[in-house]
Amino acid sequence: MDAAGLPWAAQCAGMAFSAFSLCLVALAVVLLLVRRWPWCSCHVCRAYLTGSWARDFTNLGDWYAHLLRESPTGTVHVHVLGCTVTANPANVEYMLKTNFDNFPKGKTFAALLGDLLGGGIFNVDGDAWRHQRKMASLELGSVAVRSYAYKIIAQEVEARLMPVLADAADRGAVVDLQDVFRRFAFDTICKISFGLDPGCLEREMPMSKLADAFDTATRLCAMRGAAASPLLWRMKRLLNIGSERELKKAIKLVDELAAAMIRERRKLGFANSHDLLSRFMASAGDAHAVDDKYLRDIVVSFLLAGRDTVSSALTMLFMLLSKNPDVAAAMRAEAGDDSTPVTYEHLKGLHYTHAVLYENMRLFPPVQFDSKFCAAADVLPDGTYVSGGARVMYHPYAMGRMPRIWGADHGEFRPDRWLTGAGGSFVPESLYKYPVFQAGLRVCLGKELAITEMKAVSVAVVRAFDVEVVGESGSGACAPKFVSGLTASISGGLPVRIRRARK
Ligand code: HEM
Repeated sequence: MDAAGLPWAAQCAGMAFSAFSLCLVALAVVLLLVRRWPWCSCHVCRAYLTGSWARDFTNLGDWYAHLLRESPTGTVHVHVLGCTVTANPANVEYMLKTNFDNFPKGKTFAALLGDLLGGGIFNVDGDAWRHQRKMASLELGSVAVRSYAYKIIAQEVEARLMPVLADAADRGAVVDLQDVFRRFAFDTICKISFGLDPGCLEREMPMSKLADAFDTATRLCAMRGAAASPLLWRMKRLLNIGSERELKKAIKLVDELAAAMIRERRKLGFANSHDLLSRFMASAGDAHAVDDKYLRDIVVSFLLAGRDTVSSALTMLFMLLSKNPDVAAAMRAEAGDDSTPVTYEHLKGLHYTHAVLYENMRLFPPVQFDSKFCAAADVLPDGTYVSGGARVMYHPYAMGRMPRIWGADHGEFRPDRWLTGAGGSFVPESLYKYPVFQAGLRVCLGKELAITEMKAVSVAVVRAFDVEVVGESGSGACAPKFVSGLTASISGGLPVRIRRARK
């Protein structure tokens, strides 16, 4: 034994382990450099590697939008990332529909989110995806689930969201609307998915363990995606250090809480319940024969799908309405006063509000980009060659900023551009020009639900309140800085002051 009390052999083993770890990290860095860096010095790769794009653009997405506008095909290569980026609708249609089987999510993406999402619908390709897609679209399309979901949304707006905003208005307090919407969307999607209530938007704004663990896990998974090489995070996972250690802990908590919810649902019974977990249990026949891990994976995918997307869209919407009070006034006029009951049918008929929501997500799509892997070498419709195993990214954020898709006024927030039908009714654009909900065979399954939820919230809020963005986000509100993550969220939140609307 030496002075520290450790046996000599144990010390040697520790040193050998550290030396081995260092060698592995060094090897990863060398491999990364050999694979990529010194061999590409084009202006795009140089700007990416040195970060010099940030001198002229607020967000990486703004820089991509600029590059894609300049490109005659609407497609560029970022060689150091081994990635083709496109804003060309013909390419998007080809990947998402025409040659769908050649553009799966791929193993690299599945690995990024695999520890959190397991084999859930978001994270699988092939037969596993087909099976879940069929089952999930059947359930989400059913009248029983839809009316259950609408009831939950209406209750959450009435009993939780509105009292929190009214309280802020009466106190004259500044609140972070992004945080309020995230809490609202999490409570809503948990009730729809599990039939159980985390209560994040209670007046005292409690921290929910599940929401917290889920936040940490999605943030750290997104960090994996942003790493220069997957070798780096894989190495950290192997050694259980740093962010990977934190991720493992967060996922363990998500697992435990999900398992508790599944147990609770079994205890409460599922035959007459319309939350998605109960429906999936019931549709599988003998619930005890259904693997809990399978149920956990499906429902966790729904939490991811339905939470941050909706809250991101609502946050950006109120940022834009604060800058465009005439649009808020027109929404208020369309919605009618407090005596008009807000039913599902009423919401459906609100064409102007529908147009406002679409125009908002054109400029600020909650999912700003989406990647696929090209299985076998292919040529995209614009002539771009893509080698087998390469990554291809389509970019809804950039696509919303392309004059060749939206015209010279693409930068303006103009809901009227969607009201081209008979009597000024809403007409959707091709989803390949507007892949905000993706498009083709994997188009979002929660699109109608999300639109209903966002309409219910926006109508209730604009009828009752004026929302003004304050502070730095107020003055620079139309050029928000986003935090990197799976869905768009504003760095620093969205501080607002709320006043009761003048009647
Ligand atoms: C504004 C709100 C929403 C937006 C912008 C949105 C957008 C998207 C996008 C871009 C995808 C493709 C993701 C990918 O494959 O990588 C997707 C898929 C999906 N979304 Fe949504 N979503 C929203 C709300 C919802 C809600 C509320 C639900 C569920 C209740 C939902 C359920 C799903 C599901 C299950 C998929 C997977 C479909 C598949 O892979 O076949 N989404 N969504």
